[in-house]
Amino acid sequence: MDKRVDAETMFRLNGRDVRLAPRVGERLSEALRERLGARDVKVGCNAGDCGACTVLVDGAPVCACLMPAQQAAGAEVETLAGLVAREPLAADLARRFEGQGAAQCGICTPGMMVSAVALLREAPRPSEGEVMDALGGVLCRCTGYRKIIDAVMGRAPGAVVDADGHMGAAIEKLDGRVKVTGAERFGDDVATADALVIKVIRSPHAHARFVLGDLDGFATREGVEAVLTASDVPGVNLFGTIPGFVDQPVFAEGVARFRGEAVAAVVGTAEVMAQFDPARFPVEWEVLPDVQGMAEAMADGAPQLHVARAGNVMCGGFVAHGDVGAALERAHVVAEGEFETGFVEHAYIEPEAGFAQVVEGRVEVHACTQAPVMDLDTLEQVLGMERARIRVVPTATGGGFGSKLDVSVQPFLAIAALKTGRPVRITYERTESMQSTTKRHPSRMNVRIGADAEGRISGLRFDGIFNTGAYASWGPTVANRVPVHASGPYAVADYRAEAKGIHTHCPPSGAFRGFGVPQAAVAQESLFDELADRLGIDRLEFRIRNALANGVPTVCGQVFAQGVGIRACLEALRPAWQAERAKAAQVNAGDGPVRRGVGVAAGWYGCGNTSLPNPSTIKAGVRADGRIVLHQGAADIGQGANTVIAQIFATALGVPVSRLDLVGGDTDVTPDAGKTSASRQTFVSGNAARLAGEALRAQILQRVNAGEDAVIVPGEGGVEVREGARAERIELATLETDAEGYVMRVAESYDPPTKPLDANGQGEPYAQFGYAAHLCVLEVDTKLGTVKPVKFVAAHDVGHAVNPLLIEGQVEGGIAQGMGMALMEEYLPGRTENLHDYLIPTVGDMPPVETLIIEEPDAHGPYGAKGLGEHVLIPTAPSVLNAIRDATGVQMRRLPVTPGRLKAAMGEAGHA
Ligand code: FES
Repeated sequence: MDKRVDAETMFRLNGRDVRLAPRVGERLSEALRERLGARDVKVGCNAGDCGACTVLVDGAPVCACLMPAQQAAGAEVETLAGLVAREPLAADLARRFEGQGAAQCGICTPGMMVSAVALLREAPRPSEGEVMDALGGVLCRCTGYRKIIDAVMGRAPGAVVDADGHMGAAIEKLDGRVKVTGAERFGDDVATADALVIKVIRSPHAHARFVLGDLDGFATREGVEAVLTASDVPGVNLFGTIPGFVDQPVFAEGVARFRGEAVAAVVGTAEVMAQFDPARFPVEWEVLPDVQGMAEAMADGAPQLHVARAGNVMCGGFVAHGDVGAALERAHVVAEGEFETGFVEHAYIEPEAGFAQVVEGRVEVHACTQAPVMDLDTLEQVLGMERARIRVVPTATGGGFGSKLDVSVQPFLAIAALKTGRPVRITYERTESMQSTTKRHPSRMNVRIGADAEGRISGLRFDGIFNTGAYASWGPTVANRVPVHASGPYAVADYRAEAKGIHTHCPPSGAFRGFGVPQAAVAQESLFDELADRLGIDRLEFRIRNALANGVPTVCGQVFAQGVGIRACLEALRPAWQAERAKAAQVNAGDGPVRRGVGVAAGWYGCGNTSLPNPSTIKAGVRADGRIVLHQGAADIGQGANTVIAQIFATALGVPVSRLDLVGGDTDVTPDAGKTSASRQTFVSGNAARLAGEALRAQILQRVNAGEDAVIVPGEGGVEVREGARAERIELATLETDAEGYVMRVAESYDPPTKPLDANGQGEPYAQFGYAAHLCVLEVDTKLGTVKPVKFVAAHDVGHAVNPLLIEGQVEGGIAQGMGMALMEEYLPGRTENLHDYLIPTVGDMPPVETLIIEEPDAHGPYGAKGLGEHVLIPTAPSVLNAIRDATGVQMRRLPVTPGRLKAAMGEAGHA
């Protein structure tokens, strides 16, 4: 099976001669990673679309996934690890990437840096345009590119040198070094050389009955080690995220409900699986009628996806406050409309990947994830196995944005490892990743908003349906969150909002930065502009007039005594709003086809679970040698939890952050810090870290009877406590060591105080909200329908900035995703299943972003800090839509606003 084309190909890899005999069709990326150990070369798409695998071949950047290995014969091949180790220019670039926070998850970083090295060799001081050209072929989904541009151009670093690195210090990421040297290990980087390879067999149809053929005969013919089907699932063949909605089979049984659904898996050696063709798998399909649109799914007689969910309605959420009917009746003006958004793909550059093995009767799963303990919960059910016999070890995660909250590869890995007794690995192909994992919910929203003559909102009614696909995933969360948030961060006394999740034969929709709130904000913020215009009130002032404030009830009747920062965010935009509108008027004074527009929009987001328990636990200990170990289980998917949680802990303990050793979310040794979602880690895990730091500090001070203001100075083998002129040293070697090697240890938990919602959605769903307002400047070519963003100004109330550099990175990355949602991204099953047809913003699409950090301390946040991860995207798309309306007079109600759609809408509106 192992076909060779050449007895030996020789080339130089990072300065040393290497030899290999390439297989037929072997890509250079595969040869480098799998046979030459160069795991710093990352593979994101295997199609030359993402550029993550970029290496230098004789000095020129090349996508290693597109180059046959034998073509490297005689060439000099350089990868990131070799460049940083051998070339001062690359080593300097690595330092600059760290100083700018230009690597978030880090999966794109090798491709970015290698491309940048090629540029910098030719042009040591490149222009911004040259940088954009050089990096144009490498996609990043986390950063919004601006910090990468800054790093390549050698601009002054955003990070500061700070001896303590406590709250407020813009220090470099504590885990940044491995990302800029190529040493970071993602899901596809951790398998042992002997691991068997798993390939999943998936439905090519949206809805089909299927019968599996002779699997034993197939296995023998193909020489594979195992074939897995539903009958191989030892426990319950279902997974899901919300109790009561655990409905997705690991392997479909007899019927597939979406294109890409798993029906079986094949496990074999790497050599056998390299030749494996899924078309040879024995399965017969009978195509059944499908419903992919929500209207079809809700129609009488439509095929039902789940027996217990009549009319394909999965579930709904509802909030009512006051009397919306009467309020709209008495309104001076009413704006209303139907808005629609499509599926949005997460498009992280790292496809789902992992490795598993059985060790002393226990199964260990190493995979990229946002929620290691939830993965463990699922595996316990699916494997029907004692929890103590399962270990989940997260690898680095190359972007998640919500989708890696759900399990993907984990059940396949665990079942295959247990069935074969051998190490196994799996990495999804890009198309497989896009077909089978969750998406942002498509939505159809009908909204009516009234205002009085003075511009005060007098009633808002929201009715939305959300396409949740074939299985529930996080659909119930979306259905519940949207009604709580659909008012936006405004005082709306009379309100009624209802949201429903609708099943269709589409991939499951799940969590994606905002859980439905970004879609709702599009409708509400668009209509706000219409209301302001009809009342003759400035659009920003209209929002300020209606902004929520301390002491004013939300639509759930919740009242915050402090920390409501939306007015401050909106007011922070006022100078830019006035200046940019004046500039736009100048640009538009001519009669050319390019019209400039300025848009503004706001957003809010409740941090953590909606009215549900939501605890995090953080553990820490002191070793006899004086090292302080922080067990930090909040998955860092690029957003910076490893740094932020450590900064909070170090502040509470009163030691420099550099004194900490970090241990990640290994379920054997690190307690549950909950999932990385809903902007909860800084708030919830941050509070647990604060409590753990305070508890450890109290233990240390107690040992020497020191007061609260004493200074703790950790050192080699001891801890010194200084108080005035007195200094006492605790000799750690004299203390008893526990089973984990700690002489002192703490574990503290925090669960945000929330109250359940009643039948009308009244209660206290979140202990904390974060607030944001974005301003977008863009230009529309009215002849072509194209939109070019020129600038964003983003004001974010973060309560207390833990690390301003990381905040900027989150804001820029969120804006890039929001811009993509507004202008270009739409997942269409069967049509945009790769990164060539599904477009995400490139470096050339991303305009400058000015971030304004607002600090309205929160009563519950650690040192007043608030969450940020979702907030950064929510106002972006509506600010873009409002800027398009400002430029053209056309209110777009269907996302994404592609040139074709905008041109058609302008035509209808009478544009030439
Ligand atoms: Fe670029 Fe994550 S840092 S994809």
